[in-house]
Amino acid sequence: PKFDLVVVNGIVVTAADAVPCCIGIKGGKIHTLSPSFSSDEIEGAQIIDAEGAYVMPGGVDAHVHLCQDLKTGAHGLGGECADDFETGSRSAAAGGTTTIITFATQTRDETDRSLIKVVEAYNARAEATGSFIDYGFHIIIVRNDPEILENELPILVRDWGVTSCKLFMTYKSQRLTDTQLLDVMLASQKNEITTMIHAENGDMIQWLAEKLENKGMVAPYYHALSRPPVVEMEATNRAIALAGLIENPILFVHIGSPLAAANVRNAQTQGMPIYAETCPQYLNLTYDDLQKFHSPTCFENSKHICSPPPPPGTSDHDELYLGLHNGTFTIFSSDHCPFRYDHPHGKPSGDLVSRKPGSFRFIPNGIPGVETRMSLLYTGGLATGRITPRKFVELTSTNPSKLYGLYPKKGAIMPGSDADLVIWHPQKTFEPFALSNDMLHHNVDYTPYEGKEFVNWPRYTILRGRVIWAEGELKGKPYDGEYLKRGPSYFGTGPAGRRRDARKTATWLR
Ligand code: URP
Ligand code: ZN
Ligand code: ZN
Ligand code: ZN
Repeated sequence: PKFDLVVVNGIVVTAADAVPCCIGIKGGKIHTLSPSFSSDEIEGAQIIDAEGAYVMPGGVDAHVHLCQDLKTGAHGLGGECADDFETGSRSAAAGGTTTIITFATQTRDETDRSLIKVVEAYNARAEATGSFIDYGFHIIIVRNDPEILENELPILVRDWGVTSCKLFMTYKSQRLTDTQLLDVMLASQKNEITTMIHAENGDMIQWLAEKLENKGMVAPYYHALSRPPVVEMEATNRAIALAGLIENPILFVHIGSPLAAANVRNAQTQGMPIYAETCPQYLNLTYDDLQKFHSPTCFENSKHICSPPPPPGTSDHDELYLGLHNGTFTIFSSDHCPFRYDHPHGKPSGDLVSRKPGSFRFIPNGIPGVETRMSLLYTGGLATGRITPRKFVELTSTNPSKLYGLYPKKGAIMPGSDADLVIWHPQKTFEPFALSNDMLHHNVDYTPYEGKEFVNWPRYTILRGRVIWAEGELKGKPYDGEYLKRGPSYFGTGPAGRRRDARKTATWLR
């Protein structure tokens, strides 16, 4: 047969276009796009009838935590990452995502200096269970170790295709000072990799958290009050200045406030290579979600603890949606960071039991969402007209692929691209439904979106020409996914814009 699989009667949506079109797939790749196929052409091929629904490039979720060492690493807060590569990628597949980029993290343990060893160790975890979908790694760097930066970063880029790193401005066990940030940013810049920044002012948070605790304000709700939007506003402003000194491209992860988004937009207006990500929690949750229970012994509402916290009110959601529409935000990721709460009386299990009950400072930060990411944005953004279908694809697939060196293998529907697709239900016939956690495929015992109404859900997820999710059933297997060696960012540093001084500095520093 000419094709292995054909998708007919769909509206094929890319970041550029939305047109009725048929797709012919051969050898795992997009082969042919055509207004129609003759019966001769499709003979012998598997046929999927999209029935007029949107057909898009498979989701690329560039912010996922799986199998991550959180005890000594990410937060020093305890808590166990509930999803491994099998369960996390399974959940992603059921939600229309075909690529995840997860985090491999250096820690401050002496034995844990080598970035190469860190990536090797995380890849071994992925290989131990397999992944339903394709995956890659960002490296979290928590030291400004000159030897490691000089000797190991080039190897990570060349041999592993790890072309992005994440740096923290908060969390005691992670955060870098300004000079340390500059050291690592310069190393990133030399290696032409993208620097991801977790931008919250750690000192402000620590100071506020102590004040709150001294007043006995320790319930989970106060997590939000310990990190008001100005915390993110200050840190984004400072990171933009630091990166701007040496023209280092940065991507702010999980931006949760319009104040921070305004800093990003201002930098972009100046022509600086500043990018930003936001996540479903910042468009769907508010402070109120942390206030639901408010009991010092019940961790129910810790189900919504993430950092930055959800914004104060729903008007913030509108502003952040505007940022998705107008290009302030480059990508939309889940920040899936899974913890379980299957405790008998509202107390977390495992090593959290020994911690001070109810105090927000000891609750692991992070919420699950790799499976709900696409459908939440469909429901709240695409179906409401806040963003176009093309913008939806740009944010969920094309731009993360471009930013992290996967394009046009991923994030595109063009001949030669991987045949990774998400096919939605025809909107006319789909019955909106209320989500419950038992519909999801992660290894987490809750969803922050329990009871929320969804207006669509992926009907088919296709990975390199193979159907891995169809009509509510998983069809894929844990070893369907492959490791992705990534290239340089497609965006680069762009024109020098108004910051020609930064280009000069970047040049003489090399
Ligand atoms: O609260 C969050 N975002 N947890 C995940 C870890 C991180 O900082 O991205
Ligand atoms: Zn973060
Ligand atoms: Zn994260
Ligand atoms: Zn409870």
